[in-house]
Amino acid sequence: MRIGIIGATGWLGSALGAGLLSRQIVRPGDLVLLNRSGPRPDYHGHADPVWARDVADLVAQSDVVVVSVRPGDWSGLDLRAEGRLVLSFMAGIGAQELARCGGRIVRVMPNAAAEIGASYSPFWAAEAVTDADRNTVRHLLSAIGTTDELPDEAQIDLMTALPGSGAAYPALMAVAMAGFMRAQGVSEAIAWRAAEAAVIGGARLLEGRITDAPVLVAAYRDYRGTTAAGIEAAEAAGFSRAIVAALEAATDKARRMAEGPA
Ligand SMILES: NC(=O)c1ccc[n+]([C@@H]2O[C@H](COP(=O)([O-])OP(=O)(O)OC[C@H]3O[C@@H](n4cnc5c(N)ncnc54)[C@H](OP(=O)(O)O)[C@@H]3O)[C@@H](O)[C@H]2O)c1
Repeated sequence: MRIGIIGATGWLGSALGAGLLSRQIVRPGDLVLLNRSGPRPDYHGHADPVWARDVADLVAQSDVVVVSVRPGDWSGLDLRAEGRLVLSFMAGIGAQELARCGGRIVRVMPNAAAEIGASYSPFWAAEAVTDADRNTVRHLLSAIGTTDELPDEAQIDLMTALPGSGAAYPALMAVAMAGFMRAQGVSEAIAWRAAEAAVIGGARLLEGRITDAPVLVAAYRDYRGTTAAGIEAAEAAGFSRAIVAALEAATDKARRMAEGPA
C-alpha cells in the first residue's frame, strides 16, 4: 500500500513519515511525499521515498492520502482524490468540505507528541469508510502513538482543544511555577528544575493510571498538609474553572474555523 503525505516536512507530517519508516510500517519506496519547499535528498535517513511533483501526481501514486498542511492552505491544494482513503490532520476543516475531494474521509487529531511516538490521535470516519479502511487508519496511526475511533465528528473539535494542544497547558503551568520560584529569590536553573519535578515527575506518576487522578487529589486533600492548602487556594482562585474556560475557548475556535470566515 502506497501512502502519500501532503505536508511531509511539516511538524506532524514529518513525525508521521519518520514513524512509518522507523517502525517499518511502510517501505521507503511506498512513501510518496510532497511539501511546499521542494524535495530533500535525505528523508529521515532514507534517500528512496518518492517525491511527488504536485498534488495530482501524489494522488496518482498513492492509495492513502494524508493531508497535513495548515488549515489555511487547504483550499489552495485543490485536492482531487476519488477512490482514495483521505486522512486529514487539519483542525477546523469539516468532513463536508473535505468530501469535495471525492475521497473516503477520516479526520484525525494528533498532537505534538507525534514527534516522540507518543501522540494520542483519535479519529472519526465518514460514512463511506470501510472496516478495512479503519484497520489501515489504526495501523498507520500506530506509527505516532495510540488512537481511538470517535462516534461523532463534533468530538474532533473537543479533541483539537485537549490532546491537540499537546504540551501547551503543562508548559503554561511550568512557566507560572518557575516564575513563582524566581520571584522568591530561587536561581533560574533551580527554579526550572523545581517546576520540571512537579510537571514531569507528576506526569510520570500518573502515566497509565490517569483515571486515579481524582483519588490522588482526594488523598492529598485528606492528608491535610501543605499540598492540601495549595489545592484549596488553587481551586478558590479558579484553577479548574480556568482549565474549563481554556477548553471551551479552544473548542469554540475550532468550531468557528469549521464554519469558515464570518
Ligand atoms: N502541530 C500540532 O501540534 C498539531 C496538532 C493537531 C493538529 N494539527 C494540524 O496538523 C496540520 C499540520 O500542522 P503542522 O504543525 O505539522 O504544520 P506545519 O509544520 O506548518 O507543516 C505544514 C506542511 O505543509 C506543507 N505545505 C504547505 N502548503 C503546501 C502546499 N500547497 N502543497 C504541499 N505542501 C504544503 C509545508 O511545506 P514546507 O515544509 O515545505 O513548508 C509543511 O510541510 C494543521 O492543519 C494543524 O491544524 C497540528
